[in-house]
Amino acid sequence: MSRKDEVAASVEIVKARAGAEPIELALILGSGLGHLAHAVEGVVIPYADLPGFPHVSVSGHNPGLHVGLLEGVRVAILGAREHYYERGNPAAMRGALEVVKSLGAQGLIATNAAGSLRSDIRPGDLMLLCDHINFSGLNPLIGEPTDARFVPMTEAHDPGLRAALTRAALAEDVALPEGVYAWYSGPSFETPAEIRAIRTLGGDAVGMSTVPEVILARFLGLRVAAISTITNMAAGLSAEKISHEHTKAMAPLGAAKLERVIRHFLKDYRAL
Ligand code: HPA
Repeated sequence: MSRKDEVAASVEIVKARAGAEPIELALILGSGLGHLAHAVEGVVIPYADLPGFPHVSVSGHNPGLHVGLLEGVRVAILGAREHYYERGNPAAMRGALEVVKSLGAQGLIATNAAGSLRSDIRPGDLMLLCDHINFSGLNPLIGEPTDARFVPMTEAHDPGLRAALTRAALAEDVALPEGVYAWYSGPSFETPAEIRAIRTLGGDAVGMSTVPEVILARFLGLRVAAISTITNMAAGLSAEKISHEHTKAMAPLGAAKLERVIRHFLKDYRAL
């Protein structure tokens, strides 16, 4: 099946199981952040039932599309992502994002777990991405034949969505500093020298996801914002050992705050 056919088939499956009312907003949940998906009043469709959806092989992720109401907003929550490092495909999320776009989504909120490079942003804290650095050199639009591939990235992280998330965090008394996220391919973590290089280049947090989705979302005309939950200080910045186990154990610390911010943001969403 071509990607176009896969997307059309998945759109029909979602409409048949979840109803045809348009989706307003899509969310992608990162490592250990799956709890929010279960709060959606609606249906869960396993990715395996949806042509063009990603193959997810990372523990701590929940591969289902949750469609329904959250704080009165009709959302589609992608409970898990496929990372570049899983199968070497930077465009792994393209089909899923095309499906939520076809279902009506106007915006995307992406979340991830990340390591911090800033002493004032600690494990358990959140960081709102004001921009990113594509440290991988990869791009999900390589091979896209149309001129639409030349996507401007000047305000890729939508100022309006960021302002709304900042207001929501303030109302919830949750600190939400802005920072620059550097995408590192993974799956190995960074070396301390790489972290020093990223710091010199202007990175505030580092992680293995999100940037390809931001590029794809902008390509599709979705407004996008992303939030990191900090699970560790980046390599060489603390004595603590970095591991995926540690990421999964620490993500829930930030996840509770993230859930409050996103719920508050959704309550105000229609006024945006
Ligand atoms: N580096 C890359 N990805 C991560 C990290 C990190 O330190 N922590 C959580 N995800």
